[in-house]
Amino acid sequence: MKVMLIGSGGREHALAWKISQSASMDKLYAVPGNPGIEEIARLVPYDVTDIDKIAMFAAEESIDLVVVGPEVPLALGLADALAVRKIPCFGPGAKGALLESSKKYARDFMARYDLPSPKWRAFSSLQDAGIYLTTLPDAPVVIKADGLAQGKGVVVAQDRLDAFSALEEIMDSGKFGQAGEEVLVEECLFGEEVSLLVFSDGKKLLPMIPSQDHKRAGDGDTGENTGGMGAYAPVSAYTPEIAEVVERTIIKPIEKAFRGEGIDYRGCLYIGLMLTADGPKIIEFNARFGDPETQAILPLLKSDLLGVLYACALGDLGDTKLEWSDGAAACVVVASMGYPAKYKTGQLITNDESKNAPLAGGCAHPTMVFHAGTAWNKNHELVTNGGRVFGVASAGATIKEALDNIYARIDGIHFDGLAFRKDIGHRELSRLGQYNDKRANRRLS
Ligand code: AMP
Ligand code: GLY
Repeated sequence: MKVMLIGSGGREHALAWKISQSASMDKLYAVPGNPGIEEIARLVPYDVTDIDKIAMFAAEESIDLVVVGPEVPLALGLADALAVRKIPCFGPGAKGALLESSKKYARDFMARYDLPSPKWRAFSSLQDAGIYLTTLPDAPVVIKADGLAQGKGVVVAQDRLDAFSALEEIMDSGKFGQAGEEVLVEECLFGEEVSLLVFSDGKKLLPMIPSQDHKRAGDGDTGENTGGMGAYAPVSAYTPEIAEVVERTIIKPIEKAFRGEGIDYRGCLYIGLMLTADGPKIIEFNARFGDPETQAILPLLKSDLLGVLYACALGDLGDTKLEWSDGAAACVVVASMGYPAKYKTGQLITNDESKNAPLAGGCAHPTMVFHAGTAWNKNHELVTNGGRVFGVASAGATIKEALDNIYARIDGIHFDGLAFRKDIGHRELSRLGQYNDKRANRRLS
């Protein structure tokens, strides 16, 4: 098969790594890819928003399957443009992608099919939203921009004053452009968050193992919200009993909803869950794989990923079952100091293990270094080129073993301003009685 992968992050490097292990893989293209993906794919230097160019290239090269990583090309209708040319695509069309690109659409969808959700209201006037806030108790409440805002459009406000300023920031300052023209005010849910990534062929949903992200920039879940600083899988708090409730109250009703709405959703549906005292509730949907959750999930997948992606794209998962390795996997994001706010790029990256760039590593190596914000400079040296630079991932018999591999590997990677969280997996380790905050307290030289 000739496969074309869209995107350039750690998630896409992990997808490329796993896809290229498939016996049916002939040739892999990546648009635009990154220096890590370049080791296993031919890079095509188009922007991911260049829908027409991508679709035309896929047709000219007789691509058998396009796999879309990020949400923006999905929201722009890449899958629809490929469908016109009869090119199978893993990733929903623009209608399915609305579940991520409009939070109001997603909440309406949940309401129509009685999916467990927090209470919410949508507003297009700052004044109306403000008046509504005064009717709520002076307690935590969540303010969300309706549209895509690179993960920055959500504020968990601690009190009414905080909520007013969040509303003003989103609706008045124009910070999020069109994405902030409508705003949702949501009940704040409490509990443990779980990311449930689900394969969908349009008719049937097939959940992957549960994972957990760490959204805040700093140790102890402090600091700003980011795209995600690390993840692990599976999550023991997501018990078989909870999985059964999710299957009954969320997965099956979504299958029915896709039928009811005429959404032929072929791709990954990311269901952000909060495990509340009242049972699992939906925080959000994303129309794609999670980043960095994917880097923590795929090392445990024993099934042929390419086969599953292709079956989804053809609308026929049949009775596919997913096989997973025992044990656990994790991914720790190596970031540029300052991320998610201002950070430097162009910092030279060195690596103790080889003179070359940090490599993804094959199965023989216990850790994989997935590239995200990296680039070659004009002397063909590897430099930083983004906020999240690498996702270092590993699988092990236990989450502790996976994390020990990862942190040892990170110690061998160097660049000016290297930053990472030292407490990834702390909830799971605490549950298992294995959390040792020495690592979190260690000062890095
Ligand atoms: P998102 O950008 O939609 O992934 O949301 C960012 C984060 O905001 C989520 O990962 C949650 O931690 C938090 N969040 C969003 N909605 C709610 C809610 N209704 N209650 C509590 N936390 C929420
Ligand atoms: N890690 C959260 C996301 O992919 O949206």
